[in-house]
Amino acid sequence: MTPPASRSVRLTGWGRYAPSQVLTNADLERMVDTSDDWIVSRTGIRERRVAAAHESTASMGAVAGLRAIHTAGLRPDDIDVIILGTLTPDYWMPSTAALVKEAIGNTRASAFDVMAACSGFVYGYATATAYIQAGLAKHVLVIGSELLTRFLDFTDRGTCILFGDGAGAVVLSASEEPTSPVGIELTTEPQGAYMIWLPAGGSVAPPSTETIAKGQHKIRMEGRETYRFATRTLASTALAAVGKAGWTQDDVDLIVPHQANVRIIEAVAKGLDLPMERIYVNLDRYGNTSAASVPIALAEAVNEGRVKVGDRIVFVAFGAGFTSGAVALEWTADPARGRDADDAIRPESVHVRPPVDWDSVDPIPAALAEVLARPLPVDLDLSDVVPDEPAPAQPEPAAQPVSR
Ligand SMILES: CC(C)(COP(=O)(O)OP(=O)(O)OC[C@H]1O[C@@H](n2cnc3c(N)ncnc32)[C@H](O)[C@@H]1OP(=O)(O)O)[C@@H](O)C(=O)NCCC(=O)NCCS
Repeated sequence: MTPPASRSVRLTGWGRYAPSQVLTNADLERMVDTSDDWIVSRTGIRERRVAAAHESTASMGAVAGLRAIHTAGLRPDDIDVIILGTLTPDYWMPSTAALVKEAIGNTRASAFDVMAACSGFVYGYATATAYIQAGLAKHVLVIGSELLTRFLDFTDRGTCILFGDGAGAVVLSASEEPTSPVGIELTTEPQGAYMIWLPAGGSVAPPSTETIAKGQHKIRMEGRETYRFATRTLASTALAAVGKAGWTQDDVDLIVPHQANVRIIEAVAKGLDLPMERIYVNLDRYGNTSAASVPIALAEAVNEGRVKVGDRIVFVAFGAGFTSGAVALEWTADPARGRDADDAIRPESVHVRPPVDWDSVDPIPAALAEVLARPLPVDLDLSDVVPDEPAPAQPEPAAQPVSR
């Protein structure tokens, strides 16, 4: 998929949002039979974020989206299309993108969700590129937003340690300036369907007391098969996108991979014969945020000064389906533009309108609420305490007669 030279597409805005509540590996040790050592050595993850009860996939996506629009120097109403990748929508319908549209104050855009699991943002990016190339849109907002902690089985140590919440977004804009070719590769494996899945709630197993009793509304995963797929596919998908851009892997300045597991990322580096310095990693702080992972990592990489104008960047993701996708592009925006977006767009000023006559439920899973409410163990520094005789206890004051 190589765009015609006449209609170039530029990435003009980027932004991300991470909820403030942190769930550490030590917290997970109190929920399942696991250890910080095991999680860090097998995955590289140290902590992840958990959305608060008042937050949702739409609210986090709206904050990230507004930050990307701010970075692009646009107003919300300049956006023609909103595409949101998620596997944890606010509702089955309407789309989460429609809720984001209202929340950001856009009156013009068409809005829809893309379901490609962890590859959702990359698939959305490809769709946005095609819209602009076809002349259907000038500015497209692409969001990846996920609230995975409400879909995790906190008794399954194989999955609950991996995932976290957050959102990231970019704005793609049509440009009169020539841009070097964008390379895009998207794949879906023929037999990957039940490797990562959420069995109930759809038309095959509509929600019922039985599906709830069986825990079928929580994410299930074949970890080893998924690992094998990821290590096989990520490098080849990235290479295909690099080839379509007309480059070789030596031309790539930075890879921004899906942040699932540092061992998978190291395998990609090996597969591409690139040093880890050319690969951006932030999964130690966020875990796997599915469709949000690439845009969060991209925004952080740019804001941390890892990207400069003219750099050749590759995003690459994989996920349930099995899907995978990669985009190779040359960076054209001033990297400094995104640095004040977090201060300019505060989460407390962004609201998603709740439904009318809705009896809200507490959305936080009980096991999670319990561990987050429990005070953390306090390590007291006793090094400067001089052992001494205990002070004599004060005598109890004599009981006073109670006057009636
Ligand atoms: C999940 C994953 C970290 C497990 O690591 P692994 O090295 O494959 O571990 P295994 O599944 O082989 O399990 C090894 C042992 O550790 C145990 N184990 C699994 N999870 C554990 C945990 N959180 N803590 C401690 N032990 C755990 C297993 O029960 C198993 O024990 P056993 O040998 O007694 O049976 C790894 O398979 C993985 O990252 N897969 C890809 C997942 C992914 O990226 N998903 C998202 C896709 S978008």
